Amino acid sequence: MSKVEFSRGLEGVIVAETGICSIDGAKGKLYYRGYHIEDLLQERDFEDVSFLLYFGELPTTVQRNMFCEFLCKTRVIPQTLIDAVQRMPRSLHPMEVMQSLVPMLTNVPVDMSSVQKLFSDFGLDGDSCGRDLALISQIGCLTSMVYRSYHGKSIILPHDSLGHAANMLYMMSGKTPTQNETKAFDQCLSLHAEHGFNASTFTARVVASTLAPTVSAVSAGYGALFGPLHGGANEKVMQMVAAIASPEHTETWIKQRLKNKEKVMGLGHRVYKTRDPRANAIETLLEVVSEEHNNTTNITILRIIEKVVRENLGDKPIHVNVDFFSGSVYEQLGIPPTFYTPMFGAARVSGWIAHVREQRSDNRIYRPGALYIGPTPRNVTL
Ligand code: ACO
Repeated sequence: MSKVEFSRGLEGVIVAETGICSIDGAKGKLYYRGYHIEDLLQERDFEDVSFLLYFGELPTTVQRNMFCEFLCKTRVIPQTLIDAVQRMPRSLHPMEVMQSLVPMLTNVPVDMSSVQKLFSDFGLDGDSCGRDLALISQIGCLTSMVYRSYHGKSIILPHDSLGHAANMLYMMSGKTPTQNETKAFDQCLSLHAEHGFNASTFTARVVASTLAPTVSAVSAGYGALFGPLHGGANEKVMQMVAAIASPEHTETWIKQRLKNKEKVMGLGHRVYKTRDPRANAIETLLEVVSEEHNNTTNITILRIIEKVVRENLGDKPIHVNVDFFSGSVYEQLGIPPTFYTPMFGAARVSGWIAHVREQRSDNRIYRPGALYIGPTPRNVTL
């Protein structure tokens, strides 16, 4: 009998067709619906990127205005949910809190008056699409509220005249962010919004394939994103930087880790065999905010880590990924490590909902097989 082949971690397995995102892992290129991520960063903000991912096209000025008005109007978290945020045990990680709270967004009323025309232009069912898209702003607000509550501070209500990124920062700190802070955070959101069939998006699609509600798919996405091999790596990178503490100790610390055959967080990727283009963009952001805040210790340590890993694992295609520099940007924005992955989640919701929509458009439930290696049939009775 021929040996049955299977793919550990589904490597190389094509499970669907998609029009949302494409990645050239060898060249380190990332495209959202055919647009190069660097071009999007130069020209567009997170609102436009979210629109593009969901509707498939960049918005016209009129469409953008309708969409931004909608996102602003849907920044509504009812008191019952605010109470739930405040009752969440502090022993839970904010990612566990978000995973638990997202399903509670199911019954939150959504004001769709500003987007009815938009949905009809795209031939979409306004009710379900509106509810899905409202998750972008609801989750942004919820994340900021969880942040406040986690730090024992009073909840700050949304600011009507700020864009999505600035509003999230405002709801966390209580201060209107500077233009540079807003730009840095907005670009982080855009860079984290989508990345093909990664673990959390695939999880969301599997849940959507059962015809479960979008909130269930997004909540499951949070569960998958939390893990340190996926979105949770950004927090671990900063724990590593904190443990290393100074540029002088970096080389010895990393060499010891590699000698112990331990992974260095923020490096390696299933798809990229060169530097992750998102890491390039975030490194540039970090350079700017570090100089602005006159604090270059982290970027110096991170660059030494990368150099030492490359010198010691040069034969393996292990390069820095999106999680390597992002935590240090968030740190400069005053956000502590436990909230790095929640920031990732608040961005990735745009990708998840686009994938849920795509999954539903040509659905077949996911149900892979497995190679059974357990005992042959046996009797329960002795
Ligand atoms: N440090 C040191 N060695 C590494 C690293 C790393 N960060 N990543 C992979 N390797 C080595 C492995 O030890 C393995 O070596 P071996 O063949 O000698 O056993 C080889 O490279 C292949 O690694 P796998 O873990 O099998 O690769 P896989 O594609 O399954 O995993 C992953 C990819 C999870 C990203 C992995 O590189 C990793 O654990 N990185 C650290 C965690 C991390 O940064 N995750 C964030 C990824 S980006 C994101 O999800 C948003």
